[in-house]
Amino acid sequence: MDRALISDIDNTLIGDPAALDRLLRRLAGSEVHVCFGIATGRHLEITLEVLEEWGVPLPDVLVTAVGTEIYYGPHLQPDSGWSEQIARQWEPDKIREVLAEMSDLRLQAPKNQRSFKISYVISPDKSGCVRQVEKLLPKRGLFAKAVFSHGRFLDILPADAGKGAAIRYLAGRWHWPPEHILVAGDSGNDADMLQGGYRGVAVGNHSPELEWLRGKPRVFFAPGKYAAGICDGLDYYGFLNAEYRKPGGR
Ligand code: GLC
Ligand code: MG
Repeated sequence: MDRALISDIDNTLIGDPAALDRLLRRLAGSEVHVCFGIATGRHLEITLEVLEEWGVPLPDVLVTAVGTEIYYGPHLQPDSGWSEQIARQWEPDKIREVLAEMSDLRLQAPKNQRSFKISYVISPDKSGCVRQVEKLLPKRGLFAKAVFSHGRFLDILPADAGKGAAIRYLAGRWHWPPEHILVAGDSGNDADMLQGGYRGVAVGNHSPELEWLRGKPRVFFAPGKYAAGICDGLDYYGFLNAEYRKPGGR
């Protein structure tokens, strides 16, 4: 593989079927070998369902449950090294107990709860409680990360997990230089991967919670929405150009 394209699914890869089709054709017809990966908040089973529904071929790498699980296609082999790494200092029972004190948080459905992801919905207009959660966890000696998305979802993850951390781990494990990784996303749980020093693309329909990344190096705000924004990003960085590989290239 010459480089890797890692995209969020909901409202990034999917949303506009014609644009998705254009993107998939570009990748399939590219003269450079692109590792195709997804990084999503969804868990594996519903990730596979939605990819099939939208006619997306099985990715080479699947980063699911907000970067707490990694699988490799085509046999969906889990990366146990990643699970072992993030399991350290993870105390889910204690986290649930501490956060039960907060009345503006409601646990999401059991199917959205994973071994390394505790997910809540925040009451409307109560997003201010994210700061409270961020203060409360360390105060109670808990090493965990709070990730806020779409103005209403709050995921609690091991402190060293998340989409950005998972991609850093993949880059290290598979020796991908940062400039050979293009990441695309639209909402809060994509922020850490977008500012990871890769080639970042925020699609045109991004949530306001990504606005603070505007003007940051290597975060391109695409005019196109959904997969059309990813295509804009490929053009902007010249990511599929064969000569891109040359040292000193863009
Ligand atoms: C997906 C997950 C949900 C999570 C959200 C934001 O919708 O199903 O559990 O809270 O992404 O990361
Ligand atoms: Mg999304």
